[in-house]
Amino acid sequence: MKNEKLKAILDEALENIRNALELEDINERRNRYLGKKSELASMGSQIATLPPEEKKTFGQEMNEVRTKIAEAIEARMAAIKAKALEAKLKRETIDISLPGRNETLGARNPFYIVKDEMTEIFLGMGFEVADGPEIETDMFNFELLNIPKDHPARDMQDTFYIDENTLLRTHTSPVQARTMEKAKGAPIRIICPGKTYRRDDDDATHSHQFAQIEGLVIDKGINIGHLKATLELFAKKMFGEKREIRLRSSYFPFTEPSVEVDITCANCGGKGCNMCKGTGYIEILGGGMVHPNVLKMNGYDPEVYSGFAFGIGIERVAILRYGIDDIRKFYNNDVRFLHQFKKKD
Ligand code: DAH
Repeated sequence: MKNEKLKAILDEALENIRNALELEDINERRNRYLGKKSELASMGSQIATLPPEEKKTFGQEMNEVRTKIAEAIEARMAAIKAKALEAKLKRETIDISLPGRNETLGARNPFYIVKDEMTEIFLGMGFEVADGPEIETDMFNFELLNIPKDHPARDMQDTFYIDENTLLRTHTSPVQARTMEKAKGAPIRIICPGKTYRRDDDDATHSHQFAQIEGLVIDKGINIGHLKATLELFAKKMFGEKREIRLRSSYFPFTEPSVEVDITCANCGGKGCNMCKGTGYIEILGGGMVHPNVLKMNGYDPEVYSGFAFGIGIERVAILRYGIDDIRKFYNNDVRFLHQFKKKD
């Protein structure tokens, strides 16, 4: 470049443009080097005073300087904008690698898991589900089940009384009488899962409120073999094919004969261990052949009809099934307890 001054302007401008950090700096440089009041502009107006042989070169060099400055400004502006965009993107980045916040799903109470499973097993055998009130009369809870007022069996089933004749049912057995009343002499095959109550001091194995599943079958020709086969199938489906059952004679006022049903201990397979207290068996339910008095009182001729009945504690089955050490855990709704049953459901 021949013109020293133009060269100096170009050098200074390029240097200063390089130094521009913000868009305002760029605007300032554009004004300073290309604006109407810039040195370049004032030099341009001098062109007329130059001798003709210099005019052309000077004009060309002026243009060159202007173009170079303009290009440098554009390039610097693009760089500043790109940098700003990059910073903005960085600022606004969403870190998608952060794990999302999942809703924690609840788990079913093992009581209900087991209750439904028990119900399904009996539905599969052709039983229907019957229902009855939790607030019962003395008549249905006791009298119609062959437990008259002065009967000693009442001692084991003290409960919450609303008045002399109205109480919270002590077992699901009153549904037997209620179903017979409704069936009016027709055959019956029902189960009734439901809540029951007793006056009990709560501890690891007792609760004033618990639940049972009652079963009742009445028809012509029903015998204890039917009871045994039904409960054996139930035990195997509930606790595993390897479980055997045994019937021990027992006493309930509403059945004759009465039995207590044990299954072989899942822990030792019947050899005897801590869990079964060395007996090899664990008691799971009570049952028997419906007492002729019960049939008669509820409208069935015991000479024509016979039946079997059973009552199973739902919590007891769940405790055995899952190895739960305290019955109160079913009712406390402690999520640390409940979550353990999430996968097994
Ligand atoms: N109701 C009895 C109880 O709560 C259980 C029971 C035993 C029910 C024998 C029955 C049965 O139907 O036949 O202790």
